[in-house]
Amino acid sequence: MAKYRIAWLPGDGVGVDVMDASKIVLDKIKLDAEYIHGDIGWEFWCKEGNPLPDRTCKLLKETDCALFGAITSKPKEEAQAELVPALKDKGLTYASPIVRLRQEFDLRTNKRPCKAYDGNPLNYRDNIDITVFRENTEDLYAGVEFYPLPKKLSAVMAELHKKAKRFAEMPEDEVALSCRLVTRTASRNIIRDAFEFAKANGKKSVTIVEKPNVLRETSGLFCREGRKVAQEYPGINLEETNIDAMCMWLIKNPMDYEVLVTTNMFGDIISDLCAQLVGGLGFASSGNIGDKYAVFEPTHGSAPKYAGMNKVNPLATMLAAKLMLEYLGEKNSAERLEAAIAAVIKEGKVRTYDMGGKATTTEMAKAVADKL
Ligand code: IPM
Ligand code: MG
Repeated sequence: MAKYRIAWLPGDGVGVDVMDASKIVLDKIKLDAEYIHGDIGWEFWCKEGNPLPDRTCKLLKETDCALFGAITSKPKEEAQAELVPALKDKGLTYASPIVRLRQEFDLRTNKRPCKAYDGNPLNYRDNIDITVFRENTEDLYAGVEFYPLPKKLSAVMAELHKKAKRFAEMPEDEVALSCRLVTRTASRNIIRDAFEFAKANGKKSVTIVEKPNVLRETSGLFCREGRKVAQEYPGINLEETNIDAMCMWLIKNPMDYEVLVTTNMFGDIISDLCAQLVGGLGFASSGNIGDKYAVFEPTHGSAPKYAGMNKVNPLATMLAAKLMLEYLGEKNSAERLEAAIAAVIKEGKVRTYDMGGKATTTEMAKAVADKL
């Protein structure tokens, strides 16, 4: 029996291409693993009304962790329109399966390293090495949303908060509401993860990215928890910034930042910004990690227009595989894989279209495999 059982979730679009590429390098590394395919994505929404079928959730419960490619997610109306007629009347609503996975499996930490590898022509500057820690289960992603806003709710809001009165007086179909839910426990956990990472990797600072001057309660709570956690780590400096200013400073002095920690939605935004500093989504990997399970994925989407063309950059998924190897405790293999990726980037002979080259996804994978 293999040492590890890994759920293999290509999803759709280019997810399939980049996962095939990653398999080439994992095989070369000779990870002692069995890879078990799981159904996930757009196809299963259209056919079954569920992009994350129960059998896939069951598979995840029976494996050590999952590697995931990408899935198409569309706004509600478009998703609804693609359902087969037999399912249309059932009142099903599309929810992004990756967000569901994060919540249902309590994958509370989203770790997103953004490193400027030497020789990458797409680096915004050299020497950028930022890791984003994004809370992964709550905030605006909690899915507590209303439209139209029920009268019952607007009445209670108006009773409890004078600023809600204006909205309570509007017609129901005038107002949509998404709740930003932030808990102390989740805030503490993600901040502690950021500090633990800083400590283990000799980083000198952790920067909270929030907006407490406006979002006084939610960002305020997050920052307060941050200050408490920081006391447990005397050698590491805690900095507090506002999300808007942070976007500006990241463009101005990206080398000044090492570890960023934030809530879900700001983390979504800032991690794309950081990805672009180091070459774009083709280089951005993501680990969704909980106490019992973890799902590793590239940060990019399914890019349907490139699906099956063997064209996109597979490095983000390979870097996600590197995070997976670390999670499994295969430190040596993780380091070897990262070194091979770094060597291919530095050499600059094999480059996909985003890097200005002509190499295919498979050629890039083989080039990495050759360095292993
Ligand atoms: C990400 C993505 C997802 C998110 C989408 C696909 C739902 O943008 O992983 O950053 O918003 O978290
Ligand atoms: Mg995103």
